[in-house]
Amino acid sequence: MSKEPASALRFSFDGRPLEAPVGSTLAGALVRNGIASWRRTRVAGQARGVFCGIGTCFDCLIDVNGERAVRACLRPLCDGDRLETSASTGGADDV
Ligand code: FES
Repeated sequence: MSKEPASALRFSFDGRPLEAPVGSTLAGALVRNGIASWRRTRVAGQARGVFCGIGTCFDCLIDVNGERAVRACLRPLCDGDRLETSASTGGADDV
């Protein structure tokens, strides 16, 4: 008897349980769940989420499973990931 592969991954964002399709990036999983921003800029405190989507702008930094300042547009979502609003402000000390 074969077991069906999971079609959705479970994860959390700031403690809120969510799901996204297998193969999603962190950014894709958040946007799919209606979440467009997950950190603030250093000077003006403006909301930031995914911008370029290809790993060059660093706007999408997020904290994952205790790891700080991960680019959400590049990291594949894993079942059980704990995503948190990032304390990162996008400065040189963050990455
Ligand atoms: S959205 Fe630009 S690096 Fe991720």
